[in-house]
Amino acid sequence: MVATHVFSPLSIRSVTFRNRLWVSPMCMYSCTDGFANEFHRVHTGQYALGGAGLVMMEATGVVPEGRITADCMGLWSDAHAESLAPAVAFAQTQGARVGIQLAHAGRKASANAPHRGPGFVSAADGGWTPLGPTEEPFRGLAGPRAATAADLEAVVAGFAAAARRAVSAGFDVIEVHGAHGYLLHQFASPLVNTRTDAWGGAGRTKLALDVADAVRSAIPDSMPLFYRVSATDWVDGGWSVDDTVELSVALRAHGVDLIDVSSGGAVPDAAIPVAPGYQVPLAKQVRERAGVLTSAVGLIDEAAAAEQVLASGAADAVMMGRRWLRDPYSGVHFADALGVDAPWPRQYARR
Ligand SMILES: Cc1cc2nc3c(=O)[nH]c(=O)nc-3n(C[C@H](O)[C@H](O)[C@H](O)COP(=O)(O)O)c2cc1C
Repeated sequence: MVATHVFSPLSIRSVTFRNRLWVSPMCMYSCTDGFANEFHRVHTGQYALGGAGLVMMEATGVVPEGRITADCMGLWSDAHAESLAPAVAFAQTQGARVGIQLAHAGRKASANAPHRGPGFVSAADGGWTPLGPTEEPFRGLAGPRAATAADLEAVVAGFAAAARRAVSAGFDVIEVHGAHGYLLHQFASPLVNTRTDAWGGAGRTKLALDVADAVRSAIPDSMPLFYRVSATDWVDGGWSVDDTVELSVALRAHGVDLIDVSSGGAVPDAAIPVAPGYQVPLAKQVRERAGVLTSAVGLIDEAAAAEQVLASGAADAVMMGRRWLRDPYSGVHFADALGVDAPWPRQYARR
């Protein structure tokens, strides 16, 4: 059997991932009142059968108003944790590790799910007033309320409580969503955060670090903690790779084990050079300059490309989104392509 980077295991704290081909978090807009259901059990389980090393479940609101849409997943009560537990347990029986991305959408909340059309949901239709660093809206969405100190303390406490519930639901990994223009990124980006109090200026990353601290203290020492960053806003004067390196060093000191490197989302008009593997050089810079584990994501769709990302030292794992949606057996198919024994479930081994 050939030795590959993609199919070598990775251990972080006390968790070992069978390989480095992971499912990126993807909103499915398929919940009612934030609860996971049969769809999520099958959806998560199919990737475990298909050979994923880690399935990261979608952006999950730590409080109801932190959901992107009313169809998004939530973890603000113990009953929500109970609804997630069967999906986690089944995927684990198939050899995958399972994570959950904890999120607060900030001023991008109360949006319409894509299948419901563009724009935001008005209060009359079940929407809510989002929370933001300021009252400046994200173009096309509702005007937010500027968060007070008490609001931000409640957000931090919400992340900690949701993390505790994720542990009780059996998750192996927690990821904090600090990317794509959601609340933590809104506070970090100078394009969005123009506050002059303790959460503005030099304090723009305070919320990120407070959340990392609160989540780290809420979960066992043995449990890996990831943080997804937007490594750049792709706008002059916006959040930059240098800022990301500095934040990554700080997050590592605050107990974060892996930086999941994405980009963009703070403002609508960024010129993003989308192309195969376009975010990989960002992951490489963060890994080399901050001395942290990274995952790379974004149009890494082929086995050879995934192998090259890892061989080049850009990342410790590859996350894929749309490729898994199109081919839930990507793990098996990538193994075939790289000459590794394909990890079919034993039930499927018969020829
Ligand atoms: C349907 C869909 C939903 C997504 N939802 C999330 C999400 O919940 N959290 C997140 O960080 N990124 C989300 N993303 C971004 C993906 O995780 C990933 O970073 C992006 O699709 C680029 O990877 P890809 O080219 O392999 O799809 C989503 C992407 C898609 C296609």
